[in-house]
Amino acid sequence: MNVFHKKSDLNKAVNTFKSAYQTLGLVPTMGALHSGHLALIKKALSENNLVVVSIFVNPTQFDNTSDLQKYPRTLESDVAMLKTLPEGEIMVYAPSVEDIYGDNVNSSNFSFDGLEDNMEGEFRTGHFDGVGTVVKRLFEIVKPDNAYFGEKDFQQLMIIKKLVEKHNIPVNIIGCPIHRETDGLAMSSRNARLEPEYRKAAPFIYKTLKSAKTKFGTNSDVKVIEWVKSKFAKHPLLKLEYFTIADEESLQPINRKSKSKSYRAFIAVYAGEIRLIDNIALN
Ligand code: PAF
Repeated sequence: MNVFHKKSDLNKAVNTFKSAYQTLGLVPTMGALHSGHLALIKKALSENNLVVVSIFVNPTQFDNTSDLQKYPRTLESDVAMLKTLPEGEIMVYAPSVEDIYGDNVNSSNFSFDGLEDNMEGEFRTGHFDGVGTVVKRLFEIVKPDNAYFGEKDFQQLMIIKKLVEKHNIPVNIIGCPIHRETDGLAMSSRNARLEPEYRKAAPFIYKTLKSAKTKFGTNSDVKVIEWVKSKFAKHPLLKLEYFTIADEESLQPINRKSKSKSYRAFIAVYAGEIRLIDNIALN
């Protein structure tokens, strides 16, 4: 498996491959790969002849310097993990910050028609400008036919679909279901940084989301939101940052429950220093 650190080298390799492949898939990641990533990559391998996995901790999407510094960087073990995958052509693109940004490590400003207004967009200033900037750049560099993103970052997935639509980028965006640990915790590269007591407590997040979904069937959204807040207020370790029920398409917080709309609940929680997010379809 080839690992490229420069876009020029990656481009050369992809171009020599071009006559042999019909479709090229891209799985953008920030590394510290886990089985959720592997599921995305396996799906990409089953639908494309060549898959590029990018591994790049993107500085412009972090609103917190300590989170950026502490984000796990495990290229060697990531590549070893990719080598365990069955059949399929994978190329790894692990660029430096300079290869992506040159000497201007800044995000562009985007409008995603309101999809960015709430939840992650509200609590992580500039986050989606950073995501939009790096993903657009990766699309320009790799020129994939298909690109794969997990639904754990559901708001990000919707924003990337909007990015592609607004900028006429010729790529299919494919969303993949959330992968969970056996105790229900959504897989995330951040889970490895949880202290044992917080790791033990963290499945409470998904457990609460599932109960909220049941309650949403018979209760008003206001009641469900109050109930979730009260559960976390009593929790000794987990601190709720937000719990929002939003329209699944516009991502605007629910106003009045309508039978004709699909809703999703979104949550962000601090487990000690580690911020975890999750979401669930409600109806
Ligand atoms: O979801 C992620 O890991 C990142 O936000 C992404 C899409 C790789 C962009 O840096």
